[in-house]
Amino acid sequence: MTALVDGFGRIHTDLRISVTDRCNLRCTYCMPAEVVFMPREELLSFEEITRVAAVAAGEGIRTIRLTGGEPLLRRDLDGLVRMLVAVPGIEEVAATTNGLLLAEQAEALAAAGLGRLNVSLDAIREETFEKLARRRGLDRVLVGLAAARAAGFRSIRINAVSIRGLSEAEIVPLAGLCRREGRHLRFLEFMPLDAEGGWGAEQVLSGAAVRVILEREIGPLEPLESADPGQPAVDWRWADGGGLIGFIDPVTSPFCDRCDRLRLTADGQFRNCLFSTTEWDARAVLRGGGSDEELAALLRACVAAKRAAHGIGSPAFERPARAMYQIGG
Ligand code: 5AD
Ligand code: SF4
Repeated sequence: MTALVDGFGRIHTDLRISVTDRCNLRCTYCMPAEVVFMPREELLSFEEITRVAAVAAGEGIRTIRLTGGEPLLRRDLDGLVRMLVAVPGIEEVAATTNGLLLAEQAEALAAAGLGRLNVSLDAIREETFEKLARRRGLDRVLVGLAAARAAGFRSIRINAVSIRGLSEAEIVPLAGLCRREGRHLRFLEFMPLDAEGGWGAEQVLSGAAVRVILEREIGPLEPLESADPGQPAVDWRWADGGGLIGFIDPVTSPFCDRCDRLRLTADGQFRNCLFSTTEWDARAVLRGGGSDEELAALLRACVAAKRAAHGIGSPAFERPARAMYQIGG
């Protein structure tokens, strides 16, 4: 069986596909306040995306996660989900969304075969939500979360980016809501992928710091053995039986050594890391009449060039030219 193995022995089975750079929020850690989006013709069509997915599956990709921007802004996204779940070798199609459009789309996405759903929610007080997202929308996210549950998604996770000086007062209410509603919350450290170059190490509120606040204000947590070694999140269990809570700490405890992910941007570029400074142009192959074997070779070249680690914090660290909304989470 073929596998996408890099120079460090890492096997790649997960492909993150961004379907648009557009978004209905403007989160400060992801997007600039004023943004010029990619022209529509630069975006891969559903047919092009599905062709890449089929080639990638032939090389060993097993799971796909749809991202953005905000993926639910891409018209007829459920149609793409249907096409991707039908690709031989693909075992699961998931999505990461800000939840604003879930109330309208959850049912259609579930019916199309979308498996897991990650919903971003950093704050449950409108004031902080607006400060982070530069838009209103908290109520719609909460309605969207309820709709996703009603649509029968078997795995819904809530991702909360935490930023020092902004997120502290949200941690306990967010965790409280998730405990009450039996939801799986994960705190995510702020990475240098904002669009305006504002990231600084002093703004990183570490997972360990969040845990100190949670244990002080709510109660003790016990570590849980991670079921999936490729999974960057480390889950903990409330000692009182209040469910799980997780931490994704890319800055303070990088998980690059276990990374199994590759990325395809909305404009058809392969990336081997969120922090890649190089891209491999799949769109040029697709639109230049290239063969599936040429696409596969491009993907293998992308994997072969993968670096050992992102190197955030090291003097040689170089921020990628693109921000999070142009890469896909
Ligand atoms: N640092 C950490 N997480 C980020 N996200 C977007 N930008 C950043 C950043 N700079 C999150 C989103 C979403 C996921 C895809 O990544 O909030 O939950
Ligand atoms: Fe939109 Fe998500 Fe970026 Fe926020 S983090 S601007 S919701 S894509």
